[in-house]
Amino acid sequence: MTLTLRLATLADVPHLKRWDRQPHVIAATSDDPNADVAFADAEWADEVSGADPASAYYIAELDGRPIGAMQIIDPALERTHYWGTDCPPNLRAMDIWIGEPDCLGQGHGTVMMTLAITRAFAEPHVEAILIDPLNSNTDAHRFYERLGFRPIGRRLFDEDDDCLVHRLDRADWRPGDTDA
Ligand SMILES: CC(C)(COP(=O)(O)OP(=O)(O)OC[C@H]1O[C@@H](n2cnc3c(N)ncnc32)[C@H](O)[C@@H]1OP(=O)(O)O)[C@@H](O)C(=O)NCCC(=O)NCCS
Repeated sequence: MTLTLRLATLADVPHLKRWDRQPHVIAATSDDPNADVAFADAEWADEVSGADPASAYYIAELDGRPIGAMQIIDPALERTHYWGTDCPPNLRAMDIWIGEPDCLGQGHGTVMMTLAITRAFAEPHVEAILIDPLNSNTDAHRFYERLGFRPIGRRLFDEDDDCLVHRLDRADWRPGDTDA
C-alpha cells in the first residue's frame, strides 16, 4: 500500500466534515463528553483555500483513498495566533487525525508524521516542531514520543483545552528510527 500526503483542496471538504463527526476524532480534540463535532470552528472551505500563507492542510491518501488529514503551520505567523503572539520564529506546529476508523493503529500515522517532519526539516531555518495533544490523549503521547518528540509542559489552549505540548528538535529527528 502506498501512502501519500498532498495539499487539501475544496474537493476534500466533504471528507473533512465527515471526519469531524467521528467519535475518535472528537475525543482527540475535546475533553467534553458531550462534544459532537471535532473542529467546531473550522470553515473547511476557507481553511483549505490557502488564504493564510502560514497554514496548510494536507490529506493522506492510501492507494488513492483519503484517510486522514494534517495541518502544518508556522505558529509565529498563523493568522489566529493560536500559539500566542509571543511565539518565536523558525518553528512548525502540526496537527494530525486519521478520520477513517478502520485505518487506525496500522502505522499510517507514523508514515504521515515522517513525511511531514522530513518536509518541515528540509527547510534549513526550521529548528523544531510543536504539537499539542490533549493531556488526556495518552495514546497520542506514546505515538509522538516514539517519533522523538519530548513533552515540554502543560498549556491551556482556547481557554479550556488542557494540552501537553511536545517538541521535536531538529537534532532529535532520526528518520526511520521510531522504536525509541
Ligand atoms: C494519533 C494517530 C494519528 C496515530 O496514527 P496511527 O496510524 O493510528 O498510529 P500508528 O499505527 O502509526 O502507531 C500506533 C500508535 O498510535 C497511537 N494510537 C493508536 N490508536 C490511537 C487512537 N485511536 N488515538 C490516538 N492514538 C492512537 C498509539 O500510541 C499506538 O501505539 P501503541 O501500539 O503503543 O498503542 C491516530 O491514531 C489518530 O488519528 N487518532 C485520533 C486523532 C488523534 O489522537 N490525533 C492526535 C491529536 S494531537
